[in-house]
Amino acid sequence: MQISLINSYYNINKQYNKPAFRSTNRVIDGFTYQTTRMMRKDFPWRTFPEFFEKLGRNFKDINIYDFACSDGSETWSLKFCLRDKLGEKSNKFKIKAFDIDPEIIHQALSGKCNVTYSDTQSMNDILKEGYYKYAYREYPTNPYFPSAIAPKDFIKDNIFFDVGDMVKEIDKIEWKNNIILNRNCLAYLSPKDREAYIKKLGDYKDKILAVAIGDFDKSYGFDKLLEAQGYRESDLLNIYVKA
Ligand SMILES: C[S@@+](CC[C@H](N)C(=O)[O-])C[C@H]1O[C@@H](n2cnc3c(N)ncnc32)[C@H](O)[C@@H]1O
Repeated sequence: MQISLINSYYNINKQYNKPAFRSTNRVIDGFTYQTTRMMRKDFPWRTFPEFFEKLGRNFKDINIYDFACSDGSETWSLKFCLRDKLGEKSNKFKIKAFDIDPEIIHQALSGKCNVTYSDTQSMNDILKEGYYKYAYREYPTNPYFPSAIAPKDFIKDNIFFDVGDMVKEIDKIEWKNNIILNRNCLAYLSPKDREAYIKKLGDYKDKILAVAIGDFDKSYGFDKLLEAQGYRESDLLNIYVKA
C-alpha cells in the first residue's frame, strides 16, 4: 500500500501550521482520490449560466478559468449547466481547467468522474432531463465510489484540462472577458503564494468579469481579502464582481 505525503497548510487566521490532506495527491493502492463533487452545493448551479452570459454580453467569447479543478467534476458541472440553460448559446464559453496535481489531471483527462449517490441526485435535480442527457454511466476507477460518469462526445467542445499552478496561470489571462473560479483551494497555497495570488486578482480586476470562491475559502476569510481588493459578492452565492 502506497500513501503519499500529507502536506500542511497555514491557518490564515492563526498563522500556524496545521497538517491537512493536500486533497488530491493522496494515493491509496494506486487510486487517485479527489475531494470534490459534481455540482458541489456551495455554487449556484441553476442560476450562474444566465448571470455569466449577462456579464459577458459585450464579448464574442467568454473564458472561464477553472483553477484547482481537481478531477474535472467541477468543470463538467459547469459545462452541463451552461448547455442545459443556454443551449447552443453556451458555445461562446471556453473552459480552461488547471490543477497543480498531475495525477488528478491525468484522471480528468481520462474523461471519467467518480460520483457518489448524492452527486447523481444533485445532477438529476438540477439538470432538466437529468445527467443521462450529457453523460454515460460508467464503472468507477476508485472502489470507494459506487459509480462514475463519462461525458458524451457532443458536450466535449471548448473544454481543456492541463497541469498548472494558478499563481502562474493567472498571469496568462488576456483581454477582458475572463471569469475565474478558484474554489475551495486558496487555503492550500503557501502564505506567500496566497498573498501574491489575491493581489493579482486585484491588479487584473479590469480583465476579470467575476471570481468564484467556495465555502471552504470563505471559512478562511478569503471573502474579506477579495473585498479588500475591490470585489463585492454579487446576488449569487460565492460569486464576486468588481465593487
Ligand atoms: C478541495 S480541491 C477543490 C476542487 C474544486 N475546485 C471544488 O471546489 O470542488 C483543491 C484542489 O486544489 C489544487 N491545488 C492546490 N494548490 C494549487 C495551485 N497552486 N494551483 C492549482 N491547483 C492547486 C489541489 O491539487 C486540489 O485538487
